[in-house]
Amino acid sequence: MEQQFNSTYPDLRGHSAIVTGGISGIGAAISLELARCGAQVAMIDLKTEEEATGLLHNISKPGGKAMFIKADTSDFTAALNTVQKVNDQFGRIDILVNNAGINRDGVIWKMSEEQWDDVIRVNLKGYFNFTRAVAPIFREQRSGKIVNITSINGLRGKFGQANYSASKAGIIGLTKSVARELGKYNVNVNAIAPGMIETAMVKNAGETVRAAALDEMVLKSPGKPDDIAHLVVFLCSDLARHITGEVIRVDGGQYI
Ligand SMILES: NC(=O)c1ccc[n+]([C@@H]2O[C@H](COP(=O)([O-])OP(=O)(O)OC[C@H]3O[C@@H](n4cnc5c(N)ncnc54)[C@H](O)[C@@H]3O)[C@@H](O)[C@H]2O)c1
Repeated sequence: MEQQFNSTYPDLRGHSAIVTGGISGIGAAISLELARCGAQVAMIDLKTEEEATGLLHNISKPGGKAMFIKADTSDFTAALNTVQKVNDQFGRIDILVNNAGINRDGVIWKMSEEQWDDVIRVNLKGYFNFTRAVAPIFREQRSGKIVNITSINGLRGKFGQANYSASKAGIIGLTKSVARELGKYNVNVNAIAPGMIETAMVKNAGETVRAAALDEMVLKSPGKPDDIAHLVVFLCSDLARHITGEVIRVDGGQYI
């Protein structure tokens, strides 16, 4: 008898997703992958409508549905309004991917108050803002998925990144607390900790930083945005229904 294969690729048709920082780098790959699985996707970013056009086209061309909202994730009221807008337009929200992040590196004895505040405001408060905005919706509908993009540097610290590492460690505390609070409402809350992934953020850090990260990796090849996107769609699917409060590293063994 011929063997039967069942595709277990996540089916997210009928689901609506919000991806913060969804226009470039890891966020763009996540937006595309969620749309590929059938979800309608709202991409929230500081970038312009013009910069979003290419991605919107790539999603809509094969029949996907996406929208772009220009907003600053670190603005509490803007986050509430944005979530309301997406809910009005899509009719529901099932998935939140907190991904928008920045770095303003510097050693602690030279770090300015502004460098510290900027990173904590976007990387930590931004994640709180959107989580706070979707929580009543997820609680009410008794379902939802939240995926927070943190970093291996939130687990181990990094020279020159006290602000960034603190924000990313904070995201882990946020993830575990919210997982506890929303678990009884059937909401899964997990974090992904990438190692070095080739995006603009890494390009801006320079070749020395890139080479050092690559040297740390057991798998001697840099991570790609799709490596993160694949785990996001898994965590947002029924295949991961029993996983919550987890922090999963995707880092080619950079932090073993
Ligand atoms: N690239 C890596 O090696 C790496 C490693 C670990 C973790 N991460 C994390 O992954 C996430 C994505 O990183 P990336 O490398 O794709 O970065 P990126 O700079 O390529 O993209 C970040 C996106 O977020 C948007 N953004 C920034 N601040 C915003 C704000 N206040 N409001 C709305 N949008 C905002 C930017 O416009 C941009 O589109 C970040 O949280 C980052 O810390 C990245």
